Amino acid sequence: MKFTTRALHTSYIPTQSDGAIIPPLHLTSTFAYANQGGVKPEGMSDQEWQKSRQQRFGNDGWYDYSRTINPTRQILEDTIAALDGNKYGLAYSSGSAVLVNLIATLKAGEKVLFSTDVYGGTYRYIVRVANPQGLGYEIADLTDLNLVETKLKTGTIRLVWLETPTNPMLKVTDIAALAKLVHKYNALLIVDNTFASPILQQPSQLGADIVVYSTTKYINGHSDSVGGALTLSDDKLYTQLKFIQNSIGAILSPFDSWLTLRGLRTLELRMERHAKNADAIVPYLQKHPKVAAVYYPGSHSKDQAEIVKKQMSHPGGMVSLELMPGADMHTFFKGLKLIRLAESLGGVESLIDHPASMTHGSIPKEERIKIGLKDELMRLSIGIENSEDLIEDLSNALHQA
Ligand SMILES: Cc1ncc(COP(=O)(O)O)c(C=O)c1O
Repeated sequence: MKFTTRALHTSYIPTQSDGAIIPPLHLTSTFAYANQGGVKPEGMSDQEWQKSRQQRFGNDGWYDYSRTINPTRQILEDTIAALDGNKYGLAYSSGSAVLVNLIATLKAGEKVLFSTDVYGGTYRYIVRVANPQGLGYEIADLTDLNLVETKLKTGTIRLVWLETPTNPMLKVTDIAALAKLVHKYNALLIVDNTFASPILQQPSQLGADIVVYSTTKYINGHSDSVGGALTLSDDKLYTQLKFIQNSIGAILSPFDSWLTLRGLRTLELRMERHAKNADAIVPYLQKHPKVAAVYYPGSHSKDQAEIVKKQMSHPGGMVSLELMPGADMHTFFKGLKLIRLAESLGGVESLIDHPASMTHGSIPKEERIKIGLKDELMRLSIGIENSEDLIEDLSNALHQA
């Protein structure tokens, strides 16, 4: 099955009593146990016990409490997993909660390796929350595989957290090459695929062990839900993560799961439009006399362009830019009438962000400068409006800046 067919028909089949076409929203915190209670009646075989639960609950018969499992969330988890070509999915209360749950798999002495060119909250959690509690970490430019190997050689790194394309510099890393290296040193590669979505990039098919998302962005796509997800195929790791999720309790609510499922149904169509709009807007910005720099996946160098060609079906709908000296960024923001200044990305409406004071404000300035994130950098999430209108909006604001 191709992508959108999978998004619509993976996990829910309308064969139940009412035949609803749309997956039902199970707004319940708990589920009635079959047979008087949770304890298997005396003399009943395991098979009979499971069957009695199945009759009562449908599906696999193991619904007991919505922190542990909820039918609406389960449909979403199975669907996202299918879109990544993975066996299992887990849906969380935010993209940030996915990170917390993955860090919780580490034992004392094990470290995480990541790059500073990531979502600012990833840096914030690892450096400012988990590190004071004893978590070790290493920072490296993950596009530099020689440097990564020197770090891995220490033998203490268990997780490598890769964002590609990165937020906000839009740099890419060769996932297949990094996966090979990471596995040589018995570590796990996690790819934050938020910017690409499963439509543009399939990290698990390139060797990543776990794919993670802030579903708040493209997956849900309508800026009306905060959520996160991960997908993977390893049975043991899934069992461990499911246990940790249930223990921490960072689950996506049934309503957010339902909204996200609804968003997912049009992901492929939306991504097509984001990509088409980017094809018009990125060259426009690159040629504009008031724009000093444009950062877009593949635009940094020939090598970067090769990586994009190898592992992405399109560079996507995110672009960062800086204005020429003398052009005023705040006047530019004020001049925009359609494109709103706001955090977040990947929704149907275009948004512009000022990373240094907004999404990446918790990264110290000296760390930001190291990765080229200047105070002047702006990050544009290209929405699905008509590209002519977006270009007109940019053009008016650039004229005023
Ligand atoms: C690439 C990336 N990963 C993770 C996150 C965190 O997601 P959330 O805001 O859903 O916690 C974000 C948020 O902007 C992000 O851009």
